[in-house]
Amino acid sequence: MSARLQGRTALVTGSTDGIGTAIARALAAEGAHVIVSGRDTAKGEKVVASIAEEGGRASFVRADLAGGLPAVRELADAAHRLAGGPLDILVNNAALLINPAPTAEVAEELIDQALAVNVKAAFLLTGLIAPAMAARGSGAIINLGSISGLFGTSGSALYSTTKAAVHSLTKSWADEYGPSGVRVNTVAPGPTFTEKIAALAEYLAPMIAAIPSRRPSTPEEVAKAVVFLAGDDAANIHGATLSVDGGRAAV
Ligand SMILES: NC(=O)c1ccc[n+]([C@@H]2O[C@H](COP(=O)([O-])OP(=O)(O)OC[C@H]3O[C@@H](n4cnc5c(N)ncnc54)[C@H](OP(=O)(O)O)[C@@H]3O)[C@@H](O)[C@H]2O)c1
Repeated sequence: MSARLQGRTALVTGSTDGIGTAIARALAAEGAHVIVSGRDTAKGEKVVASIAEEGGRASFVRADLAGGLPAVRELADAAHRLAGGPLDILVNNAALLINPAPTAEVAEELIDQALAVNVKAAFLLTGLIAPAMAARGSGAIINLGSISGLFGTSGSALYSTTKAAVHSLTKSWADEYGPSGVRVNTVAPGPTFTEKIAALAEYLAPMIAAIPSRRPSTPEEVAKAVVFLAGDDAANIHGATLSVDGGRAAV
């Protein structure tokens, strides 16, 4: 274990599974106290236990980010209590992944849910956490975007819209909080083989064949980009998009 993030506290939303779990483990491996969050307490406790086994420090706070301001405020308050003050790192990672569908077949309820979890919750949470970071004069916020937020894809209008919004939020927040010492950046993964996404390997094969590296990313590769942007090695990086996509966004 190295110690680039020793003494810092990080909240990672949606870290009970997938990329979020890899981010939580990678931040903890650098010495951060990680607050793991999601709806599923059993999965969250398992992540906390695995981090402890690896010699790291983690706590779990349950939150359903579809619950609007009361749910988001509860998470922010619990995170501030665990940190004993302003957080050092916030990773807005939780998102609803949406099965491709023609626009005309997307239910209104799904639109509301996707916007609530992927956009509104990150917006509200940052509004509750960034000002305390700014008052102290330091902090790092990393938003999980996607190549889907950079390109148009037939059948993916809803998910892509939510991710494009995340890319936009990074830029606005970099301008809003940067002068106070809070860096805000995006990590934009391409197809990343979590267990869930690996099950779609056949469907994703044509997309992966168009990637310069000719392979998907791993959750650990995405997590390394987050660790970099969270730490002092990224000291003057604000408002950037770091793609972890095998080069897909470049071609
Ligand atoms: N995997 C990819 O290929 C890929 C590519 C580009 C970008 N991304 C982005 O990377 C991030 C992580 O994706 P992933 O593939 O790891 O997703 P995932 O495996 O589906 O995990 C999503 C996480 O979000 C949490 N979550 C979902 N709804 C929630 C809610 N209402 N309240 C609180 N937590 C909620 C889930 O926890 P609970 O079930 O415990 O609530 C889970 O921990 C997302 O922002 C996604 O858009 C992923």
